[in-house]
Amino acid sequence: MLTGKLVRLRAMEPSEAETLWRWNNDPEVVRWMGEGYPESLAQITERCEDRNRNSYDNVLLGIETLDEGRLIGIVRLGDTEPEIGSAELDIYIGEKDCWGKGYGTDATREICRYGFDRMRLHSIELWVVAENEAAIRVYEKVGFSRDGRRRDAFRRDGKWHDMILMTMLEGELAG
Ligand SMILES: CC(C)(COP(=O)(O)OP(=O)(O)OC[C@H]1O[C@@H](n2cnc3c(N)ncnc32)[C@H](O)[C@@H]1OP(=O)(O)O)[C@@H](O)C(=O)NCCC(=O)NCCS
Repeated sequence: MLTGKLVRLRAMEPSEAETLWRWNNDPEVVRWMGEGYPESLAQITERCEDRNRNSYDNVLLGIETLDEGRLIGIVRLGDTEPEIGSAELDIYIGEKDCWGKGYGTDATREICRYGFDRMRLHSIELWVVAENEAAIRVYEKVGFSRDGRRRDAFRRDGKWHDMILMTMLEGELAG
């Protein structure tokens, strides 16, 4: 378990599949996230049960509030490339009443700290839709820099959006 100032990051249980399914079906939560094909609750449950244990290749952790022990989101470091010590970060807070309270920043900082200190990563990267200002703000607060822009890389509701590549190198984690 990783403990920050506001959240604890811990492994997910298969019994939490229903919560994931609810978040994945909330249009506001997934507004700026890559659109997979719709999954039934049974399919998500099967995926959770069959999931490999956390490893260097893929670390997926639930975000739980420290005060109430409530599961509010997920964070992941994956697509790790050992040759260059890099991994890609994904995060979402599925419980919308928890947005804007500092949980996303704390969770992002803790998973990045884990990546640099424990996994010996050299860099962490992510792609974010240019309009997702709350997420960009979180990433910049934690120490990510904007590295590049891919035009028309995301399509939602019939409109194209640019995506921003953000990276953070070891030694750049803020706070
Ligand atoms: C993006 C997300 C993880 C942020 O988590 P959070 O817990 O709400 O973030 P925090 O409360 O730690 O910080 C949010 C920051 O963004 C700012 N913010 C919020 N809405 C904003 C907006 N529309 N424009 C600019 N800044 C905004 C907040 O003021 C805060 O900054 P501050 O601390 O300087 O005041 C969360 O909103 C989320 O999961 N969204 C849906 C999924 C998603 O988009 N994931 C990222 C995919 S790349």
